[in-house]
Amino acid sequence: MRSSYISIFLLLLALSGDGVQALTSYANEFVNPDFIVAGLFGNNTLQAQTTILEWAADSSKEGPWSVTKKVFVPPSGDIHDFMSWSPYWWPNCTRVGNTTALGPTTIWKKCPYVFRDGQFNPDARLIDDVGSFQALSDAVLYNAIAWALTSNTSSPSSMAASSYIKIWFLDPATRMNPNLNYAQMKRGPAGQIGSHTGVLDLKCLVKVVTAIMILRKKKCADWTTEMDDGMNAWTRQYITWLETMPVALAEGHAPNNHGTFYYNQLAALKILVGDFNGALNVTDTYFKSQYMHQIAADGEQPLEAARTRPYHYHAYNLAAMITNARLAAYVGDGSAWNRTTGNRTDIKTALDFALTLSAAATHEASYTAELYPSIAAVAFVYGDPDGKYAAFLTAGEPDYTAEPYYLWNVAPTVTATKAYSGAAVLNIVNWALAACVMAGLQYAFSF
Ligand SMILES: *[C@@H]1O[C@H](CO)[C@@H](O)[C@H](O)[C@H]1NC(C)=O
Ligand SMILES: *[C@@H]1O[C@H](CO)[C@@H](O)[C@H](O)[C@H]1NC(C)=O
Ligand SMILES: *[C@@H]1O[C@H](CO)[C@@H](O)[C@H](O)[C@H]1NC(C)=O
Ligand SMILES: *[C@@H]1O[C@H](CO)[C@@H](O)[C@H](O)[C@H]1NC(C)=O
Ligand SMILES: *[C@@H]1O[C@H](CO)[C@@H](O)[C@H](O)[C@H]1NC(C)=O
Ligand SMILES: *[C@@H]1O[C@H](CO)[C@@H](O)[C@H](O)[C@H]1NC(C)=O
Ligand SMILES: *[C@@H]1O[C@H](CO)[C@@H](O)[C@H](O)[C@H]1NC(C)=O
Repeated sequence: MRSSYISIFLLLLALSGDGVQALTSYANEFVNPDFIVAGLFGNNTLQAQTTILEWAADSSKEGPWSVTKKVFVPPSGDIHDFMSWSPYWWPNCTRVGNTTALGPTTIWKKCPYVFRDGQFNPDARLIDDVGSFQALSDAVLYNAIAWALTSNTSSPSSMAASSYIKIWFLDPATRMNPNLNYAQMKRGPAGQIGSHTGVLDLKCLVKVVTAIMILRKKKCADWTTEMDDGMNAWTRQYITWLETMPVALAEGHAPNNHGTFYYNQLAALKILVGDFNGALNVTDTYFKSQYMHQIAADGEQPLEAARTRPYHYHAYNLAAMITNARLAAYVGDGSAWNRTTGNRTDIKTALDFALTLSAAATHEASYTAELYPSIAAVAFVYGDPDGKYAAFLTAGEPDYTAEPYYLWNVAPTVTATKAYSGAAVLNIVNWALAACVMAGLQYAFSF
């Protein structure tokens, strides 16, 4: 309930030149690293490639990021612990008994905090590890893909992606401890400890995993064995935290988008450490538990419909469901996209319902575009025989083929093309070869 603030989709970081898309932060995204590494992109994706190069540069402007940059230390006394404050909670110092005004840090500890739904306490952003992590995850994702579009073993993009990961997760001076003990913590005497909703703060680890898999599989010179080993060690510790700590387990049992995103993280991290059976078990558990009750007979997502911003939450959970389907498909569960709920509905049914919602009717017009990556994904996987999905995208965003998501949601045209350093370099490849590779990918994507 209180965690939606981090999902603000239209994170306008930079506006580039004419016809180029402003950087937006997709709710979550797992891109098949084998598809990116194979590099057989159609010339119909040139604009999307150009945008990826732009977003890689734009997203780097604020970097690098580290939990050690925050100005307040968590209750553990360890600046390396990730920390965020629940945003809808406000202090009430009426009964504290003070005779003079209290300083902020005293208020945070002494005054009881009360919940005011939807009312954002601006001082919650004095600590912004969650914003830093979201920015990091996008920078790492787009820089890794931007590098993969080149044919060099190193590029400024791969250097940026590698160093951002190293600084956030690995360097002794700046690393984050592998726990979320103080995520979305409440303040006041009854607070000072993280809540299960805070586990959502790291949902975009999926983007980081995508990036690392690309750097690793395409043998990036900047991604060293030492870094890879360090990241595997960090991930194993954090997986243990996710699978054993009560707050993490509570998030894993959340029936709504919180639960769906928990499985995103856990499955992606198991893929990173090479535990494909474990990842398969995670996605299978999701599709047999929460998913069974998330999509009603008409395609509505009842648990998201009940929220303050139903358009946003429908789109948000759809992105998480699709990410679970992509992760499952990557580790061999090609049926994931076809799983049906207790009401015999599926991801496509959920999208079709979401398309009937009016964002404006619930004062959510600023969230309209949040659905677009999911529309592209469903059109790609299930097909779009009557052009309904393409028409919806065109109406909302005429330039949607310039969005990065278009790169991994469209079949390549006969001519495969690579963008390199902003300049498109045409690479004619044998169509038979491309078709062959795509057939292999079809298994992975199961469309
Ligand atoms: C892609 O390449 C094909 C074949 O060379 C060409 O006919 C088509 O116009 C190209 N499309 C774009 C968008 O460049
Ligand atoms: C603050 O707490 C006092 C005492 O519990 C209560 O009477 C008062 O209504 C509260 N004020 C607000 C704004 O919640
Ligand atoms: C107690 O501290 C609070 C928070 O600084 C302040 O609003 C309030 O006026 C203080 N009470 C007195 C009697 O100064
Ligand atoms: C590849 O990257 C290295 C290091 O940045 C650079 O020295 C070299 O010129 C690049 N090669 C090409 C073909 O761009
Ligand atoms: C699969 O996941 C369940 C719970 O999510 C767990 O109890 C079980 O041990 C897992 N099995 C394997 C083989 O990992
Ligand atoms: C099917 O959807 C209805 C709402 O349309 C809901 O009340 C019911 O619990 C759902 N059934 C299952 C098995 O999830
Ligand atoms: C998913 O369902 C479609 C339509 O029923 C079918 O054509 C396709 O083979 C199924 N895919 C998988 C991987 O089960």
